[in-house]
Amino acid sequence: MKVLAINGSPRARGNSDILCDEFLRGAEDAGHQIEKISLRDKRVSPCQACYACFKTGFCVQKDDMDEILDKVQNADVLVLASPTYFLTMSGQMKIMIDRFLPKWQELGAKEAYVIVTGHDGKHGLKRTAEDLSAILENLGLPVRTIIWAEHVWQKGEVLGTKAMDEAYCAGKNIGK
Ligand SMILES: Cc1cc2nc3c(=O)[nH]c(=O)nc-3n(C[C@H](O)[C@H](O)[C@H](O)COP(=O)(O)O)c2cc1C
Repeated sequence: MKVLAINGSPRARGNSDILCDEFLRGAEDAGHQIEKISLRDKRVSPCQACYACFKTGFCVQKDDMDEILDKVQNADVLVLASPTYFLTMSGQMKIMIDRFLPKWQELGAKEAYVIVTGHDGKHGLKRTAEDLSAILENLGLPVRTIIWAEHVWQKGEVLGTKAMDEAYCAGKNIGK
């Protein structure tokens, strides 16, 4: 299967990035084809709510979102990873999700996974996980597993935590 992970953190080698890699390592070990998109490397402007896409199926803004949407549509498995920023997902992640609008009914059937990180405990990360899960389910992508990385703040703090094993195992067990 084609497994696509999208990291919504601006930090290279931050906790969300590390967990995406760990998930993808498990998936690759199980024989899947893997790819990661880091939103920090992409130019994605916010939706302008012009609704031109309702007529044409395409956004009028020419940035990296066409390429991202194409990869999302072609993936069998979608992983969304986000740090918690003020109790919910990062702005980068939300801006990208809004730009799903041209194809929101054509994303195809795929398994979805959510990775959430933050310095709080589970209660503080709950909204990030619930918001991402609700959005994915609303798009017709059932969420199979949520990977919680609680109490991680500085880059790399997730290393050696149980979230690493959970990410690897979730990737390894895709489709099982
Ligand atoms: C603007 C901002 C807001 C944050 N708000 C929260 C928060 O509400 N709850 C929380 O647990 N962590 C919060 N954090 C901490 C990050 O979620 C945490 O450092 C996380 O590990 C970052 O993920 P990354 O390492 O993938 O970049 C915030 C960090 C930033 C920069």
